Amino acid sequence: MIRARIVGTGSTTPKRILTNKDLETIVDTSDDWIIRRTGIKERRISTNGQGENTSELATVASLKALEMGGILPGDLDMIVVGTVTPDRQFPSAACFVQKALNASKAVAFDVSAGCSGFLYGLSVANNAIATETCKNALVIGAERLSSITNWEDRSTCVLLGDGAGAVVLTPSTNDDGILSTHLQSDGNFWNLLYSYDERSKIPEILDTIEGKPFSLRMEGNRLFKKAVTCLADIAAAALKHNGLSCDDVKLLVPHQANLRIIRAMAERLSIPMESVYTNIEKYGNTSSATIPIALDEANREGLLKQGDYVLLVTFGAGLTWGASVVKWSF
Ligand code: UT7
Repeated sequence: MIRARIVGTGSTTPKRILTNKDLETIVDTSDDWIIRRTGIKERRISTNGQGENTSELATVASLKALEMGGILPGDLDMIVVGTVTPDRQFPSAACFVQKALNASKAVAFDVSAGCSGFLYGLSVANNAIATETCKNALVIGAERLSSITNWEDRSTCVLLGDGAGAVVLTPSTNDDGILSTHLQSDGNFWNLLYSYDERSKIPEILDTIEGKPFSLRMEGNRLFKKAVTCLADIAAAALKHNGLSCDDVKLLVPHQANLRIIRAMAERLSIPMESVYTNIEKYGNTSSATIPIALDEANREGLLKQGDYVLLVTFGAGLTWGASVVKWSF
């Protein structure tokens, strides 16, 4: 049986740091409230013209992942970008990445699945490798959420940030790699988190970002409750499918939307927080990019060893949610 294995990871975030203190000058909020309610201390914000739009961040993350995996861009058969903030409505961010990498052989497309875009993309690429439609694939989660943030809405603008992460996949015939991907969606709850057609005023201290003519609305409280249940349930289903228990999980790498959501999910799964990777304090919620950035940081910190079971779990607009069990390969 062929499945995909991860052979390289990479990530990047914009240079500019926006702290909670900075946000206090923009909206009626406080460092204390943001840390207590979300766990976020700062986030990264892209600057116009500095090579930090979605596809440019995606390209930097990809180059790092390709270098680690020892795969040349010309050997890629597929590039998938999970994003809700492509540079343009079309063409896809993936096509810009393909051009920048000169990955001429690769089929390139975006996946729009809210914050679950990376895991949805991972599932598509895994299936393509398993069915031998493709050999080497690049799966990316990349966002420039600052461009669609409503900077007048304190209930959402404190949460979001920009960044990108990527993984390189190659075929494995061993018992390692992506053991499963579980995906779910429920459009009935689309109105808990969505984009709407209205431009908000970009505050003076952020005049280096680019705003798009639509913004983001969220019913945080109801979303919070759905997130905890959906994340815990799909993570449990993914483990059960592979005959694994929570004790087998070396590292849980969850979507980073809110530290309280992550803690509540871990508690439901009986996974101790020492086995949960979080970096939300540095980057906030970067939507599709949270999992590949966290996975790359965990990998580069040496937290993952060959044979370790890694559980990836996500939740986002759509609603969409998903989980993947990975047996680490290197
Ligand atoms: O990535 C996709 C998935 N995303 C999620 O799942 C996010 C889920 N939701 C959340 O993370 C949380 O609901 C939030 C962080 C968005 C909000 O936290 P909360 O504990 O649910 O707060 P709340 O919305 O119930 O608001 C509590 C209070 C309100 O004031 P009153 O009505 O009690 O006087 C808000 O107006 O906190 C107020 N508030 C703020 N205060 C200071 C809301 N935002 C802020 C703020 N600073 N930034």
